[in-house]
Amino acid sequence: MVVELLIDKLVQGGDGLATHEGMKVFVPYAAPQERVRARIVTQKRDYAVAEIEEILEPSPLRISAPCPYYGACGGCQLQHITYQGQLVLKKLYVNETLQRIGQVFVPVRHVTVEAEPWHYRNKTQYPVGATGDGMAVGFYKRGTHDLLDVPVCLLHPVEFDRLRETMRGIFAAAGETGYDEAKHEGNIRHIVLRQGTRDGGLLAIVVTRTPELDPRAAELISEQPGVTGVAQSVVPARTNRIMGSQTRVLFGSGHIHQSVLDKTFQVSAPSFFQVNVSQAEELCRKILKHIAPKGDELVVDLYSGVGMISLTVAPFVQQVTAIEVDPTAVEDALVNAQAQAIRNVEFVCSDVGRAISRVASTDIVILDPPRKGCPPETLRQIAALRPKRIIYVSCNPATLARDLATLEQLGYTTYEIEPVDMFPQTFHVEVIARLGPLGSADE
Ligand SMILES: C[S@@+](CC[C@H](N)C(=O)[O-])C[C@H]1O[C@@H](n2cnc3c(N)ncnc32)[C@H](O)[C@@H]1O
Repeated sequence: MVVELLIDKLVQGGDGLATHEGMKVFVPYAAPQERVRARIVTQKRDYAVAEIEEILEPSPLRISAPCPYYGACGGCQLQHITYQGQLVLKKLYVNETLQRIGQVFVPVRHVTVEAEPWHYRNKTQYPVGATGDGMAVGFYKRGTHDLLDVPVCLLHPVEFDRLRETMRGIFAAAGETGYDEAKHEGNIRHIVLRQGTRDGGLLAIVVTRTPELDPRAAELISEQPGVTGVAQSVVPARTNRIMGSQTRVLFGSGHIHQSVLDKTFQVSAPSFFQVNVSQAEELCRKILKHIAPKGDELVVDLYSGVGMISLTVAPFVQQVTAIEVDPTAVEDALVNAQAQAIRNVEFVCSDVGRAISRVASTDIVILDPPRKGCPPETLRQIAALRPKRIIYVSCNPATLARDLATLEQLGYTTYEIEPVDMFPQTFHVEVIARLGPLGSADE
C-alpha cells in the first residue's frame, strides 16, 4: 500500500515518525516536516514501517547524502540531514526521550559541535563474510546481518579503507576464508582497526573462528604502511560478540595511544576507548565543569575503562576510586597513571555492583556504563553513599532516562543535561547528566 505522510519528528534509531489513520508509521531516511509518498513494507497491529518512494515536499534540513552506500549500509542514519540540523534533532530527541521515559523535565543544552564531522572515528569493526568467489568486507545492511561490501567509509580515517582492502587481498592469497554466519564455517569473522592520535599507532586485529591464522598473512599485514601492531582474537562460538575473551599480539605493539586534552592514554586491543577523540575532549572538559572541583573532593569513577575520566579529574581533587571489570583496561589504566605521575587514583578491577559496596564515602560519583545502563541495585548503592553530585555519562538516552527516574525515586534530581556529538552522521548521541540531592543548593 502506498500512502502520503507528513513526517512529524525523528525517533530512536533515526527513523522519521508519521501518523496515518491513527497508526504510527516509522519512515527510515525521512526528515522532519517533509511530505512523502511511501510504501508500507511492514504492517503490525499497532505500527507500520514505510519506505519513501517520492519526496513531495522536502524538509529544509534535507541534503543529498555524500556516501554512495548511504541507505544500503546500516552504519549511518542522518547523512541526508545538514550537520546543523542533526544537532538540533539530537537535542529534540534527547529532550523528548528524557521526558517520555524518565519524566525528566530539564532544559537540554545545545549539542556540542564537532568541527570535523567526517573521518572522526578512531576504531572500525568490519564484519567479514563468505561470498561465492571470495570474501566480503564491509558493514551490515540496515537491521540485518546481510553483509554489504563497502570499500570506502566517510566516518573513519582514509588509511583504514586502504588497509582493509589490502588485508582482504592478503587473506585471499593465503587461502583464508570469510566467516559464513548461517553455516558457522569459514575463519575470518571481523577485521578491527584502531588508530591512535598523532603518532599513536595503527593496530590491526584479526578476529577468527578458529585459533589458526596463516602466519605469513599476519606478517604481511604487519609490514603495511603505518601498521604498528597485529593481534588475533578468537571467537569460536555462534555469537554476535565481536572480540573474544583473549587477544594475542602477533606482531609489534598490542596497543595504541590516544591523546585527550594534555594526557596520553595507552589503549590495548580489547580495551574500550571513546571513538571520537575531539568529542572525548569535550566530554572531559564538561565533566570537570560539572564537578567544579575545589580540591578536597573524594570521587568514585564507575565503569572507568583505561582511566580517561579518572585521570583527567584526579589532579583537581583529593582522591579517585576507579572501578572497571575488564582486566586489560585496568592494566592500561595503571600504566597511564604511572606515565602521568598521578598517585591519587586507586584502580579496582571488579564488577561495579560488587566493588561499590566497599566504598565508605564519597562526595562525587561519576558513572559511564555501557548502552544497557546501570542495574537498579547499583543505583541504590550509589544513592546510599549520599554523594553531593552524580555525573552520569551515557551513550543511550533511553536507558539514561530510565536510570534518572530511578535516581529521582532515591532522592536525587537532575539539574543539567548536556549532549555531546560523539557520533556525527548517526542518530547516536552521548549525554552528560548532572544530579544532586533533591532540594540541594545545586540548581
Ligand atoms: C562506556 S565505557 C566507559 C569507559 C570510560 N569511562 C571512558 O570514557 O573511557 C564502559 C566501561 O564499563 C566497563 N564495564 C561494563 N560492565 C561493567 C561492570 N559490570 N562493572 C565494571 N565495569 C564494567 C566496560 O569494560 C567499559 O570499559
